[in-house]
Amino acid sequence: MESTDSLQNQLKKVSRELFSNKIQLHQTTVFLQSILQNSNDLIFATDVDGILMSFSKGGEKALGYTWEELAGSFIKDLAADPLELEKLVKVSREEGSAVRLELPFRGKDGQTIHYDVSLINLTNTEGKTVGTVGICRDITLWKKLQEDLIQIDRLAEIGRIASGVAHEINNPLAIISEISGWAGVVVSDAKGLSQEDREELETAARRIGEQTDRCKAITHQLLGFARGSAPAIISFDIHAMIKKTIGFLEPQLKFKPIDIVLNFEDEALPIKSDPKMLEQVFVNLITNAIYAVKEKGTDQGRIDLKTSRAGPNMEIMISDNGTGIPEEAQKKIFDLFYTTKPSGKGTGLGIPICRNIIKKLGGEISVESQEGRGTTFNISIPVS
Ligand SMILES: Nc1ncnc2c1ncn2[C@@H]1O[C@H](COP(=O)(O)OP(=O)(O)OP(=O)(O)O)[C@@H](O)[C@H]1O
Ligand SMILES: [Mg+2]
Repeated sequence: MESTDSLQNQLKKVSRELFSNKIQLHQTTVFLQSILQNSNDLIFATDVDGILMSFSKGGEKALGYTWEELAGSFIKDLAADPLELEKLVKVSREEGSAVRLELPFRGKDGQTIHYDVSLINLTNTEGKTVGTVGICRDITLWKKLQEDLIQIDRLAEIGRIASGVAHEINNPLAIISEISGWAGVVVSDAKGLSQEDREELETAARRIGEQTDRCKAITHQLLGFARGSAPAIISFDIHAMIKKTIGFLEPQLKFKPIDIVLNFEDEALPIKSDPKMLEQVFVNLITNAIYAVKEKGTDQGRIDLKTSRAGPNMEIMISDNGTGIPEEAQKKIFDLFYTTKPSGKGTGLGIPICRNIIKKLGGEISVESQEGRGTTFNISIPVS
């Protein structure tokens, strides 16, 4: 009698334990399912041969496959380099787990996704390997940021080198410029030269002078860009400044008539900013506009300048009806040394310099353009 009681008690105990284990198993399954469903990470489990048994929704989303497409395939076939993944699995088998800071996977559309991968060797109660679990974190964005930083660093280095070279070149340039002027004078006064020779030599000396001036202007711009001097803020009338700048550019407008149309709301528009820096911006943008209009070869070349107040900012629009900029080039024009002009005519410094200056003055610059129709640069800067 007593033994039946104890047997029943034991049975109750076992069934309670079984029930509690069942609940635990259920909870663990729900827990794992919820991780697989909701994690952004790529989490997978394979059998001992590396065939996928489960795959997280985050992984499906990142690689672009559905579980139906993946079930039964080898995990290594998703890696950009299957051999690398196999090697990592081997290490996890030997050591229980393995990590790799960066392992690229290939998505359905051929895209590369970089993962930080951790593998865990799955064993049964006898310690025999039954499969592998992988937890992979998408580090593609982080990697891109890292590459961008390296790129910025390189650009800064190039900037430092360029400014060093520009600085060194300035002195010899000054000497060449001075000597070419002197040579011109000598040629003009020289006796015994035929008229033809004299003219040729004078032209040569003048051209040396002109090209040296051009080099000086380039080194000057480069130095200004690399040094990044702080703006000198004063009060001035921006309308008067724009008119004066157009005055400087008159010689460029001599041979082909181009209408410069000023669309200013008021006579004067006082602002607090750096006039020297803004002048550089207008010279660059208007020079580009003149070039584009001339390139197009139209008889109705036109450049519009429009200013308006917009709350604490003023907006300046510079439009031309020149060649326009193809869409794929519109982003590149802000890169240092991007130019489509023949060598000797452009260095690709104008627009990066403009953007640098406008940023320093707390503003923004953007471009809109249609190939064959024209280009508009929009600038917004604080009035004070
Ligand atoms: N108004 C415009 N119309 C058409 N293309 C333009 C215009 N402004 C700029 N671009 C394009 O952008 C490129 C870069 O201009 P950016 O002013 O930076 O250099 P650049 O004029 O070529 O040389 P630099 O100004 O250094 O003498 C130009 O070569 C040209 O292709
Ligand atoms: Mg330019």
